[in-house]
Amino acid sequence: MKVLVVGGAGYIGSHMVQMLLERGHEPVVFDNLSSGYRDAVPERLLVEADLADEGALDAVFGAHRFDGVMHFASFIQVGESVREPAKYYRNNIANTLNLLDAMRRHGANNFIFSSTAAIFGEPDYVPIDERHPRRPINPYGFSKFAIEQVLADYDRAYGLRSSCLRYFNAAGADPQGRIGERHEPETHLIPLVLQAASGRRSHIDVFGQDYDTPDGTCIRDYIHIIDLCDAHLLALDRLIAGAPSSAYNLGNGNGFSVKEVIDTAEAVSGTVIARNVAARRAGDPARLVADASLARSELRWVPRFDDLATIVRHAWAWEQRMASGAKRSA
Ligand code: UFG
Repeated sequence: MKVLVVGGAGYIGSHMVQMLLERGHEPVVFDNLSSGYRDAVPERLLVEADLADEGALDAVFGAHRFDGVMHFASFIQVGESVREPAKYYRNNIANTLNLLDAMRRHGANNFIFSSTAAIFGEPDYVPIDERHPRRPINPYGFSKFAIEQVLADYDRAYGLRSSCLRYFNAAGADPQGRIGERHEPETHLIPLVLQAASGRRSHIDVFGQDYDTPDGTCIRDYIHIIDLCDAHLLALDRLIAGAPSSAYNLGNGNGFSVKEVIDTAEAVSGTVIARNVAARRAGDPARLVADASLARSELRWVPRFDDLATIVRHAWAWEQRMASGAKRSA
């Protein structure tokens, strides 16, 4: 298949590009490199352009006939979205509309959308299935919710079919250590904890230990990046086979607390990680755990790396590589 991977030089996108290549598909990467890395994808695949540029979109859709489009290019920080909603609505909504309208102009179908657990807001129950009400509580979550609604309307009106994949906590790295997570600034728990383990940070702040959870820290459902990418391919195959538009919650169904993540990182890295209990971070629900039974039954999705230690081990191998690079260039 020929697949346009928008945001293919970022964390999840670059793992997707690698998997597409390994499975014999033909990815084309569309990325403005605002947060992606040129060296995360083969240079020959990269179209360096911005979704705001309709001419660049017309050029790429004019040059290729895509079997599917995957869209990873969005801003993802909840806190920043509260401070700068315009940035989030412009990029995550307006630029996504540009992409969808380019697909319509060029008769492209089969859209895989990177959605998020943040569309559910503070959950009424866990694990969260697809029937759970969508009530986002921050502009990031609203931006993704808005596009889910746009996609339902575009399907009805224009026949553009899509699959919305609601990621819980994407984590881990390529098991062979070629690529991994590199956000600047980094805000995600696992890479931050591992930076503290490698000595690139002095400690990890634990954001609140007075939540209504067994150890008082927040519980999340960490899903390996490779399992996430598997689900994208399965969802695209299904759309290409003619299935109707769909939405799936993607996680392992196991929740781990912040303390459990740090304990696991200590065991994997063989270090003691300094912890500092800090105030709660605004907008953090106590528990987010996915019920991914629909993905398992409809997509026949079977996670391969569903234990936390494996996820952390792969992320640790990548962190050690980043830390030694940082030392070399210092
Ligand atoms: N945490 C800490 N210390 C840190 C960083 C995080 O204690 O330094 C805690 C957070 O409070 C949270 C947990 O670790 O309880 C996980 O935090 P992350 O930032 O790694 O992940 P989130 O669950 O906040 O974010 C995930 C995705 C985001 C998405 C969000 C939507 O990674 O991209 O879900 O809910 F926006």
